[in-house]
Amino acid sequence: MLPDVRTEIPGPRSRALAARLRRAESRNVTFVDAEFPVFWESAEGVNVWDVDGNRFLDLTSAFAVASLGHNAPGPRAALLAQAERLIHAMGDVHPTEGKVRLCERLGELTFGRWLGQPGKVVLCGSGFEAVEAALKTALLFSKGKRPGVIAFTGAYHGLGYGALEVGGLPYFREPFRAQLKDFATLLPYPAGATADLEKLDAALRDTLGRRGGDRIGAILVEPAQGRGGEVFPPREFLPLLRTVCDAHGLLLIADEIYTGFNRTGALFACDHSGVVPDLICLGKALTGGFPLSACVGRAELMDTAWPESSGEALHTSTFLGHPLGCAMALAALEEHARPETAAGVARAGERLLAALRAVRSPKIKAVRGRGLMLGVELDAAGGGDLAVRVVKRALRDGVLLLAGGPAGNVLSFTPPFGLADDEIAFVGARLQEYLTFLSGSSS
Ligand SMILES: Cc1ncc(COP(=O)(O)O)c(C=O)c1O
Repeated sequence: MLPDVRTEIPGPRSRALAARLRRAESRNVTFVDAEFPVFWESAEGVNVWDVDGNRFLDLTSAFAVASLGHNAPGPRAALLAQAERLIHAMGDVHPTEGKVRLCERLGELTFGRWLGQPGKVVLCGSGFEAVEAALKTALLFSKGKRPGVIAFTGAYHGLGYGALEVGGLPYFREPFRAQLKDFATLLPYPAGATADLEKLDAALRDTLGRRGGDRIGAILVEPAQGRGGEVFPPREFLPLLRTVCDAHGLLLIADEIYTGFNRTGALFACDHSGVVPDLICLGKALTGGFPLSACVGRAELMDTAWPESSGEALHTSTFLGHPLGCAMALAALEEHARPETAAGVARAGERLLAALRAVRSPKIKAVRGRGLMLGVELDAAGGGDLAVRVVKRALRDGVLLLAGGPAGNVLSFTPPFGLADDEIAFVGARLQEYLTFLSGSSS
């Protein structure tokens, strides 16, 4: 449904909560100013209602999590049914059947589908933990001899120290640099042009050929960058990485935490290229709203890397394989595994892309993306500032939107998959209006 704004935004209740939060929460966490944030109370499908009774149209899926829609019926019913029976178990000691089924299903949907032999899984909590589990796997696989990892500029893998080390956005990395271990080599992420790929090819050869190159054990990559600003590389990018990995005995780790589960119009973004990674990191839309993620690897690679548990797992946590998260994920995977889900995303994505491309403004540098992972890059000269103004203006109109990219100048469109045609037309019309009226002004 289209937005229904009944109060000024933020409304009085949101403003009061923001004032309380400002006093109670570390001031670095939630951004608070006169125009931000609104406090959510309920949600359904593509809509969110705030505490003041305003209805919003969500173009973010709340960080690409609510892909199947907010409070999607399957995961919600599974959550409620599970909560009636058992809320918490002992993940790596006495787990649940749900954990068994989820590991089996993830193994099948990845390496089972790709190679005919199901992958093996380490379940985690946040996305960054899944990335760190993959980094640990790569190190163990090399018997500790190849700790180096090639990662990419603009990459976002989360904010734990391991994930930060391989992150390519200096804003997050720099304040903590002194506590990071220097094992990553960042190479430029190719942003669409084949020429970029040739440069990357040369940089890869150079990095692997120079002294210490033989201590690099893995390449970690997002098949398309999400937080980095919806950056889609040339088609030959993943095949190039696969070839390099095979030639040098490196593991290819795909971080599909953002792109996974049909976001780009295929179950995984890797599927577009036919490239099979050695490890894949999954999260976000996996459950549709519970903090559960996974690192899945080729079975024999996982067995080579990880020793049999002696009773003390090398990588685990209190909430590993959480019963509520497993139940939600199993229900969400049923939807994601249906070919109609991917096809629906591809169709809606084409329509949204066409609507965004129809917007005319000298401030637009590029409109790009695939499926329902689209970005509108605004002119970098004042672009970040303009993007923030668009995001705030949209919020006042009841549209939830985010800006990303290293300069904050890319408007990111990652709506729930059920975005309808009238909502798509509305989004295009509003963006046209914002860029026409905000480009010249400073408010
Ligand atoms: C590609 C990618 N990897 C990892 C993460 C980190 O996930 P989390 O925030 O759940 O730790 C994100 C989060 O946006 C992401 O987009």
